[in-house]
Amino acid sequence: MSVHKEIKIVTTHVLSEMKHRGEKIAMLTAYDFSIAKLVDAAGIDIILVGDSASNVMAGFETTLPITLDNMIYHAASVVRAVNRALVVVDMPFGTYQGNSIEALKSAIRIMKETGAHAVKLEGGIEVKESIERILSAGIPVMGHLGLTPQSIHKFGTYVVRARKEEEAKRLIQDAHLLQEIGCFGIVLEKVPAKLATEVASQVKIPIIGIGAGPGVDGQVLVIHDMLGITQEFSPRFLRRYHNLAAEINGAVQNYISDVKSLEFPNEKEQY
Ligand code: KIV
Repeated sequence: MSVHKEIKIVTTHVLSEMKHRGEKIAMLTAYDFSIAKLVDAAGIDIILVGDSASNVMAGFETTLPITLDNMIYHAASVVRAVNRALVVVDMPFGTYQGNSIEALKSAIRIMKETGAHAVKLEGGIEVKESIERILSAGIPVMGHLGLTPQSIHKFGTYVVRARKEEEAKRLIQDAHLLQEIGCFGIVLEKVPAKLATEVASQVKIPIIGIGAGPGVDGQVLVIHDMLGITQEFSPRFLRRYHNLAAEINGAVQNYISDVKSLEFPNEKEQY
């Protein structure tokens, strides 16, 4: 008798059910095959191929330089590793703003060339037409409100967003709009916890927070930050679950020392 291992696949429908039964959604970024395989096997619900790849994989200061081809390379690598999680891919800067036909073309390339399940776009009313056109092709879309790193040069700083009433009101309106046009969820970045809780209670779609407090429907972190690979990035919202930078440093130093002292390779490590 063969044993059939049931793999429960996360879909946008499953995420909606999780919100409605009050089960929190866990989301992390991944950008390559090996890490995506580990993260998926550990049981993560959503893997985001974030344009934060521009920072943590390519070393750029902002998310603006990463290209559609770069994102497709990362996303295809991730999808090859994943059995269970929903894979969401960030649409990079310049591929969807201001031209909904271009937006649809970019989203179609991502879906066709990577096998991912959904795309994510930053912004509210200003990207409504692009989101609607992408949705009309049957491509699930996740929104992203609050701190939107692709607009960093407009705001000039990465400080907490929507502290003032007028901006908070606009954010709530944008969340309702994204829900009405058909987004399946929204990432809400770096806004006051009280406002985030309010948004999550007003809309039916899952709100995934990063620096948005505990009152939302799930949390997302950049994997390099939560594993302690990045050292210099230390916002208040970040919890480091490991100090991988120190572990890697120790392992590499041991290797160097073993090579130089002829400790490696030993008799069993040769042919
Ligand atoms: O690009 C990214 O990693 C993101 C997360 C910070 C939500 O958008």
